[in-house]
Amino acid sequence: MGNRGLFAFILTLFMLTSFVTSAQEGESIFNSKCATCHNPHKDMTGPKLFEVRQKWEEGGAMEGSLHQWVKNWQVAEATDPYAKEVATWSPSAMTTFADLTDEQIEAVFDYVDAQPVASAVVDTPGNPGGGGNLPTEENDFSWIWYVLGAVFLVIIFSVGGVKRQLQELDESGDQPLKVGSKAWIFKNRKFVGIGVLVAVMTGVVWLLLGLYQIGVVSAYQPSQPIAFPHDIHAGINGIDCKYCHNSANKSKSAGIPTTNVCMNCHKQVQGAGDQVEKIKNIYASAGFSPEGGGKYSGETENIVWNKVHSLPDHVYFNHSQHVEIGGVDCKQCHGDMTKQNELPRVVPVEELNQIEGNVQLSKPTLTMGWCIECHSIKDVSTGTIEGKGGYYDEIHKRLLENDESLYDEYLEDGKVTVSELGGWECAKCHY
Ligand code: HEC
Ligand code: HEC
Ligand code: HEC
Ligand code: HEC
Ligand code: HEC
Ligand code: HEC
Repeated sequence: MGNRGLFAFILTLFMLTSFVTSAQEGESIFNSKCATCHNPHKDMTGPKLFEVRQKWEEGGAMEGSLHQWVKNWQVAEATDPYAKEVATWSPSAMTTFADLTDEQIEAVFDYVDAQPVASAVVDTPGNPGGGGNLPTEENDFSWIWYVLGAVFLVIIFSVGGVKRQLQELDESGDQPLKVGSKAWIFKNRKFVGIGVLVAVMTGVVWLLLGLYQIGVVSAYQPSQPIAFPHDIHAGINGIDCKYCHNSANKSKSAGIPTTNVCMNCHKQVQGAGDQVEKIKNIYASAGFSPEGGGKYSGETENIVWNKVHSLPDHVYFNHSQHVEIGGVDCKQCHGDMTKQNELPRVVPVEELNQIEGNVQLSKPTLTMGWCIECHSIKDVSTGTIEGKGGYYDEIHKRLLENDESLYDEYLEDGKVTVSELGGWECAKCHY
C-alpha cells in the first residue's frame, strides 16, 4: 500500500466517523422528538414507524409527501390523498416539525429501520406503550471495534510493506532511480517513514477520541407512565431534590421515590381540572381507591419509571462522590430541573453550558470524554467548596508532605484538579 493507499485509508476513517454521526443524529432526533408518540415496532399514540417509507411508497403516496408529513402533516393532508388517509389513523394529531431538514428526516427513518424487531419494548404493567428504546449503544456500535481491529492489522501489514520496499530500494544500491518521486522517497526514507507512522497514529487516535464522544444518549427522553412535572414540584412548590432523590448525597445512586413519598402530599393534594386524572394514577398505584384517595385497598402496583440516565455496566459512577465530596450541583449534569416542565431527558452539553455557574464542557453528556474533560478542569482547591474546605485542606496537606515538587507542579495552573488526584485512572471509572 503506497501513499495513495494511505490516503484512501484516512478517507475511510473520515467516512466511518461521519456515518456514525448521522446514525447518531437520527437516533437522538427520534428519541427527543418522536419517541414520546412513536415506537419502531409498536403502535403507540402514533403508528409504528418501521419501514414506513416502503409503506408509503407501496400505498401510492406522492413523492416527497412523507417528508412533508413530518414537517407539517396538515400540508401533506391537503395535497396528498394518501396522507389524508393516514391522518384518520387516530383522533390525536401529530406535532409539526418545520425545522427538520430532509437529511434529518431520512436519518430518523434510517435509525428506525435499523432497530431489530427483538428490541421492541416489552410492556410492563403500569407502563403501557413501553419506554421506547433504551440506548443500547454498546450493541449498536460494537462492530466498530471489529473494524478497528481489521484496520490495525492493515496498518501493521502496510507499515511492514513500506519497510520492505524501502529495504529493497536500499539493496538496489546506487542504481539510478527512474521515477522522480520514488527517488525522493528513497532519499528521505527516514522522514517519510516517520511521517507515515505519525499520520497513521494521528488517524487512529483521532478516531478513538471521536468514538469516545459519540453522543448516543444526548437528548434521550423516554416516555413515562405518569407525566411527572419537575417544575411544579421542585420549582413552584420548592420541594428539595433530596426529598425525593434521597440518596443522592449518601450513596452511589440518587434513587427514584416510591409512590408512598408521592402520597405524603397527594393524599391531600388532589389537584383541579385535568390534574385530577393525572394524580389519580398515583392513587391506584399506592393502593388507594382512585376516588379521592380515601379508601385503602391494599393492592399496590409499582409505577415503573423509565430510566433516563444510564451508563453502561462497565462504568462506575457515584453520586455522593460528586454531590457531597466534590460539591458538584445537580444542574451541572442534569440541567435546571426546577424549570423542567417536560419529561426528564439527558440534557445536551450545549444547554448545560448555558446554565450559570456550570463548568463549560464540550463533549456530549454522559460520554467518557465528558467525564474526563470535567475531571481535568474541575478543581479541588482548599476552601473553594463551602463546608468542604476541611476535606480538601487535608488532601492538600498530605500532597504537600508527600512530594513537595509534585505538589508545586500540580499547583502550576493555580489549582489541583480531579485528574491530578487520580480522576483519569481507568480503574476509578471502570470495573
Ligand atoms: C404528539 C405525538 C406525535 C409526535 C411527537 C410525532 N408523531 Fe408522528 N404521528 C402521530 C400520530 C397520532 C400519527 C397518525 C396520524 C394521525 O392520526 O393523525 C402519526 C403518523 C406519523 C407517520 C405516518 C405513519 C404511517 O404509518 O403512515 C410518520 C411517518 C410519522 N408520524 C413520523 C413522525 C416523526 C419522524 C416524528 C418525530 C420527528 C413524529 N412522527 C412525532 C403522532 C406523533
Ligand atoms: C416530588 C418528588 C421529586 C422531586 C422534588 C424531584 N424529583 Fe427528580 N424525579 C422524580 C421522579 C418520580 C422521577 C422519575 C420520573 C420521571 O423520570 O419523570 C424523577 C426523575 C429525575 C431525573 C431523571 C432520572 C433518570 O431516570 O435518569 C433526574 C435527573 C431528576 N429527577 C433530578 C431532579 C433534581 C435535580 C431535582 C431538584 C431540582 C429533582 N429531581 C426533584 C421525583 C422528584
Ligand atoms: C411535597 C409535596 C408533594 C409531593 C411529595 C409530590 N407532589 Fe405532586 N404535586 C404537589 C403539588 C403542591 C402539586 C400542584 C397541585 C396544584 O397545582 O393544585 C402537585 C401536582 C402534581 C401533578 C399534577 C401536575 C400537572 O400537570 O398539573 C402530578 C401528576 C403529580 N403532582 C405527581 C406526583 C408524583 C408522581 C409524586 C411522587 C413521585 C408527587 N407528585 C409527589 C405536591 C407534591
Ligand atoms: C457529575 C454529574 C452528576 C451530578 C452532579 C448529579 N448527577 Fe444524577 N446522574 C448522573 C449520572 C452519570 C447518572 C447515571 C448513573 C448510572 O447510570 O449509573 C445519574 C442518574 C441520576 C438519577 C437516576 C437514578 C440513579 O440514581 O441512577 C437521578 C434521579 C439523579 N441522577 C438525580 C440527581 C440529583 C438529585 C442530583 C443532585 C443532588 C444529581 N443527580 C447530581 C450524573 C450526575
Ligand atoms: C462537572 C464535573 C464532573 C463531571 C461531569 C464528572 N465528574 Fe467525576 N468527579 C468530579 C469531582 C469534583 C470529583 C471529586 C474528586 C474528589 O474525590 O475529591 C469527582 C470524582 C470522581 C471519581 C472518584 C475519583 C477518585 O479519585 O476517587 C470517579 C470514579 C468519578 N468522578 C467518575 C465520574 C464518571 C464516571 C463521570 C461521567 C459519567 C464523571 N465522574 C463526571 C467532577 C466531575
Ligand atoms: C472519569 C471516568 C472515566 C475514566 C477515568 C475512564 N473512562 Fe472509559 N468510559 C467512561 C464512560 C462514562 C464510558 C461510557 C461512554 C459511553 O457510554 O458513551 C466509558 C467507555 C469506555 C470504553 C468503551 C467505549 C465506548 O466509547 O463506549 C472503553 C474501551 C474505555 N472507556 C476505556 C478506558 C480506558 C482505557 C481508560 C484509561 C485510560 C478509561 N476508559 C478511563 C468513563 C471513564
